[in-house]
Amino acid sequence: MNKLSVRDVDVSSKRVLVRVDFNVPLDERTGAITDDGRILAALPTIRYLIDQGARVILASHLGRPDGKVDEKLRMTVVAQRLSQILNQSVEAIRDCIGAEAEESVANLKSGDVILLENLRFYAAEEDNDPLFAQELAKLADIFVDDAFGTAHRSHTSIVGVTKHLPAVAGLLLEKELRMLGGILDSPTHPFAALLGGAKVSDKVAMVENIMGKVDCILIGGGMAATFLKASNREVGLSLIEEEMLDTAADLMEKATRSGVRIMLPDDVLVANEINTKATFKVVPVEAIPANMRIADIGPWSVKSFSEELRGCKTIFWNGPMGVYEIPIFAEGTLALAKLLAGSQATTVIGGGSTAEAVTHIGLADKMTFVSTGGGASLQFLSGKSLPGVDALLDRDNPVSS
Ligand code: 3PG
Repeated sequence: MNKLSVRDVDVSSKRVLVRVDFNVPLDERTGAITDDGRILAALPTIRYLIDQGARVILASHLGRPDGKVDEKLRMTVVAQRLSQILNQSVEAIRDCIGAEAEESVANLKSGDVILLENLRFYAAEEDNDPLFAQELAKLADIFVDDAFGTAHRSHTSIVGVTKHLPAVAGLLLEKELRMLGGILDSPTHPFAALLGGAKVSDKVAMVENIMGKVDCILIGGGMAATFLKASNREVGLSLIEEEMLDTAADLMEKATRSGVRIMLPDDVLVANEINTKATFKVVPVEAIPANMRIADIGPWSVKSFSEELRGCKTIFWNGPMGVYEIPIFAEGTLALAKLLAGSQATTVIGGGSTAEAVTHIGLADKMTFVSTGGGASLQFLSGKSLPGVDALLDRDNPVSS
């Protein structure tokens, strides 16, 4: 990485503002954290800073409160969880700027950790607002960005604040760039991309960028319907993106021209509706009934995808194979997650719903790497730059712009 990292600066006794991505899923009813993966992923940086005697000021957004205080999206629950994990007090401050935050920072001793209130309680956070940036920067001597999951956002706590403080990468951000960059720059072949999830439109740029690097692209999940339709199959009531049909056909043609195999499902599980009480059956893709919709890939597809993946040395997976949240539609996702978990290949899992799926199945720790970024990992793998990374100090020319 050509950016300075937290290891390159002296943080001892310094006030260090760390932008983390603690945007964790919460149980709608109880407000409890349902997956603390993003908190765990930030621990190496937090522990490093504690060990170095820094005064650690963590800041994150949680959800999308749209510039208003939302009691359900306070950071208290995250501070409690972090405090349990670190086995030390992590105070949740009731604001992220202003007198209360400044006083809490002034009371920090070396090795102490506090968590500021949800940054998005201020509309100025998402506007990359210069005054809000100054207020945040006032709290610290150094800025560390460890929020890979939010690196695709040009928000104040990601970009604006770097105009006022020396800004370096955290250890998670560094690792994300190394792992995702590694599969783009020097994958061991054969290299397969296993793609699923709902929308083709979200993934076109990424597919175009990885086309020259992969040997095979396997397509399942909701997006398979658009590819099947573009290959002249009838897909019943499955949701397709009409405006993406030509793009899907183009991608398949490009793949053929570049010698990249594209594999679509041979069979699918179709259902009359998407809920736990649905009527469902497995059919070949040539025989999808007009009154049913695709909810998962079928057993033959699992078999052919598995055969292909077994021969690979690098596998990137982005997007579940079906509506895995509903157990009757989770078989395809489950089977391939197990296959990847037992594979000797380098297995890299895109963030967002794929990370949630492997965590939910309990196999996240069996993968080589699970990214914490959904949108951010897609943007990075599309070959586009990330504002949160661009804003950090260059290793060769470490002068703040
Ligand atoms: C994410 O969950 O992908 C990141 O935290 C970014 O959240 P956002 O999509 O609300 O900006």
